[in-house]
Amino acid sequence: MNRNILQIGFGNFGPTHLAAWRSLGLAEGLYVIDPDAAARQRCRDLGVPEDHVGGAVTEFLEQADLVVVLAPTDRHFEVCRPLLASGKNLFIEKPMTATLAEAEALRDLCRDQVVQVGFYFRAHPLAQIVKQEVDDGRLGDLRYISARFHGYKRARGDSGVVGNDAVHFIDQSNWMMGALPLSVDAVTRDHFGRGYDDLALIRLFYPTGAMAHIEVGCIQPGRWNDNIVPGSTQTKEFVVSGSEGAAEIDYQSHQLRLHRVRHELADGLWRPNNRGVEMPHVPVAEPYQVVAAEFSAFLNALDSETPPLAGIEECGVGMARILDAIYRSSSQEKRVSL
Ligand SMILES: NC(=O)c1ccc[n+]([C@@H]2O[C@H](COP(=O)([O-])OP(=O)(O)OC[C@H]3O[C@@H](n4cnc5c(N)ncnc54)[C@H](O)[C@@H]3O)[C@@H](O)[C@H]2O)c1
Repeated sequence: MNRNILQIGFGNFGPTHLAAWRSLGLAEGLYVIDPDAAARQRCRDLGVPEDHVGGAVTEFLEQADLVVVLAPTDRHFEVCRPLLASGKNLFIEKPMTATLAEAEALRDLCRDQVVQVGFYFRAHPLAQIVKQEVDDGRLGDLRYISARFHGYKRARGDSGVVGNDAVHFIDQSNWMMGALPLSVDAVTRDHFGRGYDDLALIRLFYPTGAMAHIEVGCIQPGRWNDNIVPGSTQTKEFVVSGSEGAAEIDYQSHQLRLHRVRHELADGLWRPNNRGVEMPHVPVAEPYQVVAAEFSAFLNALDSETPPLAGIEECGVGMARILDAIYRSSSQEKRVSL
């Protein structure tokens, strides 16, 4: 089906979105706006026709069947509010908003339009295998998630590492656990004194008693070259441990290890009964292919009753509530409820 798509913002992540629409055969209906002339030029240089590139949302809004918001995070609210008020279907890059009040205000504007938040890793093939393992019970009862997302890269001007990076693995954690956490214990640091965190240690406590620990930062090394931010290094590891085994994802080296292990009590000692490690071969997905998978889920949600991959209540408002709790916990130096 032909669709008119309006992409708002064409910064660093813009070309990946463009490549995703192209891979889906939908780039002919793509219109891009960016207030920055250099960004518009980059967009034309990548082959988007002159009359599909503009500087103001109003130029292409009326004809847009759906809108993708790729502006800086601290601009999302002002960009999205009029779009939702006029009934547009939105794909909003993560995090949906900079504050909880903004997230709730956007949610309250929704009627029957579809809103999906850009939680990239939900569409990643490695994560999808692990989610299936969890849902099929092959890891048993989930006990602990440990995740690390850090490395030297530019400190963004629109959010800290919590809003930019931790959100990915907080969301991934909630998705695996099938619930939002009840409480949070966190420490954040702002070594550069710019009003945004550059290091955070976060613990999330889930209704089942399971726990997650997430370390993020741009002041400590990463092990691999990053495939999304050129010139930066990253460690992106996500480990889910349950009563029947564990799944270890290394997103940067594209490896998945499935440990089939259960602790058993014998002669008064708990010992691991290790039934081996599986390393399934999973074809590498380029970032544009993962984004294309997110877009496919969004289009499915538009065409049918399928819920979006990352909906506004859980992934917009729920996530904003968690981020709010993280900052309260850090400033009060104690565990806080959501
Ligand atoms: N899902 C992911 O893995 C992922 C990866 C990268 C970025 N992101 C998210 O995507 C968003 C954009 O990231 P980026 O790295 O491309 O940012 P960026 O700062 O490189 O680019 C943002 C672009 O938006 C434009 N812009 C500024 N104000 C605007 C406005 N009011 N309306 C329209 N455009 C405006 C800027 O001129 C710039 O070209 C952020 O929210 C970020 O968190 C998500």
